[in-house]
Amino acid sequence: MRLILEIWERRQTLPAAFVVAALVGCAAPTASPPLTAEPPSPDTLGPSAAARRHMVVAANPYAAEAGLSVLNAGGSALDAAIAAQLVLNLVEPQSSGIGGGAFIMHYRASDGAVEAYDGRETAPAALDAGPFLTSAGKPRAFNDVVAGGLSVGVPGLVRVLELAHRDHGRMPWAALFEPAIRLAETGFPVSPRLHQTIAGDRHLNRLPAARGYFFGRDRKPLPIGRMLRNPAFAATLRLIAEQGPGAFYEGPIARDIVAAVRGSRVNPGVMAAADLAGYRAVKREPVCAPYRVWQVCGMPPPSSGGIAVAQVLGILQHFSYDARSAVPSPSFAHFLAEAERLAFADRAQYVGDSDFVPVPVQALVEPRYLAERARLVSPTRAMGVAKAGDPLGAKASTFAPDLHEGGVSTTHISVVDGDGNAVSMTSTIESAFGSRLMVRGFLLNNQMTDFTIQARGAPAVANAVGPRKRPRSSMAPTLAFRDGKLVLVIGSPGGSRIIGYVAQAVVASLEGDFAMASAVAQPHVLNRNGRTELEEGTGLDGLAHALRELGHEVEMTEMTSGLHGIRVRDVVLDGAADPRREGVAAGN
Ligand code: DON
Repeated sequence: MRLILEIWERRQTLPAAFVVAALVGCAAPTASPPLTAEPPSPDTLGPSAAARRHMVVAANPYAAEAGLSVLNAGGSALDAAIAAQLVLNLVEPQSSGIGGGAFIMHYRASDGAVEAYDGRETAPAALDAGPFLTSAGKPRAFNDVVAGGLSVGVPGLVRVLELAHRDHGRMPWAALFEPAIRLAETGFPVSPRLHQTIAGDRHLNRLPAARGYFFGRDRKPLPIGRMLRNPAFAATLRLIAEQGPGAFYEGPIARDIVAAVRGSRVNPGVMAAADLAGYRAVKREPVCAPYRVWQVCGMPPPSSGGIAVAQVLGILQHFSYDARSAVPSPSFAHFLAEAERLAFADRAQYVGDSDFVPVPVQALVEPRYLAERARLVSPTRAMGVAKAGDPLGAKASTFAPDLHEGGVSTTHISVVDGDGNAVSMTSTIESAFGSRLMVRGFLLNNQMTDFTIQARGAPAVANAVGPRKRPRSSMAPTLAFRDGKLVLVIGSPGGSRIIGYVAQAVVASLEGDFAMASAVAQPHVLNRNGRTELEEGTGLDGLAHALRELGHEVEMTEMTSGLHGIRVRDVVLDGAADPRREGVAAGN
């Protein structure tokens, strides 16, 4: 513990590195040497980094440093992920935190075990679709329901960290809270991205607690570089550190969550104390499927991420294309878009919370089924809107489009420790600043808007809202293996685009054999069973033309992924953070 604190002290020189990392923001893929923190040390930290012992990649330098300090002190990959996550809650509050949920994929090197931990939010027992409908029975707009208590699901993060820590933690639970508590007390500079996200949000200043924290006395968004302290959050973390995870789910913190949700002036909700007291994180069977010479493992329902990524890769492997091109080649872009259409059609048809609706998980990633789906892809013509397949000969639900797509929040942490254990964890409070309700220094999620809300009387869907149900997610924390050896740890934020971001980066990293920095920076091509989206501002005009010739309806759009990955290459860990956000890789 003392060691962590000493290292953390030393890292108080970090703002220099932070500013550099923040300023490189959207620079081209880095070929430059990793940044090193001062004073000189064997640690490396930068948008990309190479390390021999261990590494953590996270969305903010303070978080990556907290994770690295834990690894340097002998902590496990899971310990490092917890420390990094708690710091992210503080410095990247728009994206994730204890008021939200997460999925964790864990790899244990000693016996090759791959495990999936589900900390998804659940619907309160008294929640139904009613409040999400207008008086005419039509779904209310996302922007009308996102802020306030209605959208808040029972947070799962603390319980899932506890569950995974029981299995894989090496350091004491309370020690992992120290970096975040210290930083909350001493303060941290508001990052450019946090500033922009505050300035761009239209709900945040409607909710008094959030308004008081994220805006200055002049009522303006906190400027870049303003030192921000959060003593309320430090006190919250201290309670959970000292008394254990139960202190979040029962007692004063839980009481304040319920009061904020039910008492919200904007969209009051129905969460009760019993919802929090009854929350359970769940260990589930990971979804693993072959992709050429690799085995790729991801999160099962309630996330659609693992199934969809496996489907995209399992369909792609039936085609040949140039995966070595730094900018996606027309052949790769076409097959990728077609594979994604098919995966999104199945996602919308079949995937919901498998504790409530039957989801044919294994059948959906079966190589024979994916070979059948691949036969629907023409090399010379876009297929238009794909229909769901029939993996079992029995359809679980009717096709329903998502309520909303994309987004600027959510976060991904990748870690590999000195024993070769790995954590791939995607964590979220859903949209930027979640429900915008702030309690004791942290924000509550708006995850209930991830349910598919249909007009009254419309056919049932797998992802319909229901009491205690978990809404379908797209989060895709991923692990990949070759001959049983870990080769890749990766994931991203991005709403339903996560699936495409991750699938493309897996291809770029493994099949394209790109350095991690180039794999995560590759311009995006994505299809969610509609238009083929190309990342604007990345010089893809030629590709757009080629795809239009094949019949794709092409749209250029902003695509702010936050891919954070580690490629394990023999003795070297090659890590990188997405240049579109503020993350860094930190290793030793
Ligand atoms: O669980 C999901 O799939 C979404 N709630 C994630 C939201 C997200 O990634 C927003 N943005 N970047």
